[in-house]
Amino acid sequence: MSVANHIVSAAATLGATLTVDEVTAALTEPKNRELGDLAFPVFTLAKALRKAPPAIAAELAAAVREAVAADPAVASVEAVGPYLNFRFDAAARARAVLTAALSPDFGRQQVGAGKRIGIDFSSPNIAKPFGIGHLRSTAIGAALLRLHDALGYEVVAINHLGDWGTQFGKLMSAYERWGDRAQLDADPIQHLYDLYVRFHAEAKTDPALDDEGRAWFKRLEDGDAQATAYWEEFRALSLREFERIYDRLGVTFDHFWGEAYYNELLDAAVAEVEAAGLATISEGALVVALDDLDLPPCLLRKQDGATLYATRDLAAAKYRVETLGLDRLLYVVGAAQSVHFKQVFEVVRRLGYPWADSLVHVPFGMILGISTRKGTLVFLEQILDEGKARVRAHLEEKPELSDAERDEIAEQIAIGAVVFYDLSRNRIKDYDFSWEAMLKGLRPGERGPTGVYLQYTLARLSSVLDRYLEAGAPIPAADAIDFSKLATEAEAAIVAHLERWPAALRDAADVLEAAVVARYALELAELFNTFYSGGHKIVSEDVALTGARVALVASVRNVLDYALRILGVPRPERI
Ligand code: ARG
Repeated sequence: MSVANHIVSAAATLGATLTVDEVTAALTEPKNRELGDLAFPVFTLAKALRKAPPAIAAELAAAVREAVAADPAVASVEAVGPYLNFRFDAAARARAVLTAALSPDFGRQQVGAGKRIGIDFSSPNIAKPFGIGHLRSTAIGAALLRLHDALGYEVVAINHLGDWGTQFGKLMSAYERWGDRAQLDADPIQHLYDLYVRFHAEAKTDPALDDEGRAWFKRLEDGDAQATAYWEEFRALSLREFERIYDRLGVTFDHFWGEAYYNELLDAAVAEVEAAGLATISEGALVVALDDLDLPPCLLRKQDGATLYATRDLAAAKYRVETLGLDRLLYVVGAAQSVHFKQVFEVVRRLGYPWADSLVHVPFGMILGISTRKGTLVFLEQILDEGKARVRAHLEEKPELSDAERDEIAEQIAIGAVVFYDLSRNRIKDYDFSWEAMLKGLRPGERGPTGVYLQYTLARLSSVLDRYLEAGAPIPAADAIDFSKLATEAEAAIVAHLERWPAALRDAADVLEAAVVARYALELAELFNTFYSGGHKIVSEDVALTGARVALVASVRNVLDYALRILGVPRPERI
């Protein structure tokens, strides 16, 4: 039980509601370390309860003392002016924290038990390359998925493939004109993309092309055999390529429900909007006017009867929430689509569905400054391959690795570099793509705030433990450890940080930011490396000290490993 939890329950007995987050944010170090290890200022609480801070501090101290009576880690609680000062029993605290952290599951909790959350993420467009923008959605979405799983939620991963729309008609007409079977078989996405680019270029001077494309899409909508066969083939070829990327990133989905999946439901969705009196006809199109919210109208059916992206999202939301029994549905999609989601969610709300509030757009910024290779989009696979080649070149200097190992580790480092860099800042921020920055820490002696830095740290933790285990002694059981041996400031700092791990996971989920976990992991690695390079020997003549430090190292390794698992950063056993 952390101090923050104790304060929350003590405050409740005084009639005040605080959250663990608020308290954690307010906790500080006492001005004078003689006074204690941790201080809680009561100003906000005093204001809420309309009493003088020193009086509240005294009352709270009494209540907290009761709350901590059974917690040996807290040695004393004193009110000093407007502050509550805590002193820890370092050994008891280390015992409590490390006993928990020695389990590989430390941090796993049940706050989400009984709740089901759907996450719509990645969702690339068929017949277009998997671009760098979809990488962000994939990395962030997968991390949020694993985070909620760790918190006990039931999670459902949904890929809303862009597999429907007029662009497929264009693609078919382009394929009929310029398509090449051999090229399609050899490199499907590249060929389809080239056709798509050529179609757009030629349509500028030959407007007949657009009509032809529209006619093909109409054939597809009407169930024409040739159009359907093309569509199925293009879709299957694209999916196969996407699967290759998902394999590399270690991402899986429960449902590949693309836009086309909802086709059968669209008429009913539009009819429902009409029946609810929400629809207006504007220039022949059916829209829901949202100008009272300063939003553009939500377009659900065009004059020619065609449905749209928003129509499919409207039908999809209802279908998913109802058939999957979702308590919450997250859409991990770039900030450029914020208006779209505001519109769709508002239509759901106006339809009177109580679950409208459980739909959440989780926006993110852009990746800038990436050089374009072919066409106008960058192929993620080429990027990953380039990163892998860079890392490989560096690993050539390590003669102890076999060729196969080098290859595998290079892949793990490259993926970790890209994924961690993406997740290590708040998602709404744009960032520049830079191998230099992403791979900082690859060279010995560098401490980059990067994936590879964490991978090195984790490998170091494992090798320290392996060397110890190889010498024959097992990691001691918690009740055989003398925790009073962990007496240095660096050790206490690690214990304090480990204690925060479960709360860090909750915080990350509260704000839907994988960056909270990423920052936590960086700080843990920093604390460990400071400890390790700061003259602390793990294995020494002192058997009791060795046991306590081995337990500390094993705990750090467990938590760092778990953090990287949540983030989707691969964990090479050695580098
Ligand atoms: N395919 C879309 C795109 O690439 C993203 C789909 C996001 N999900 C959704 N339900 N709209 O822009």
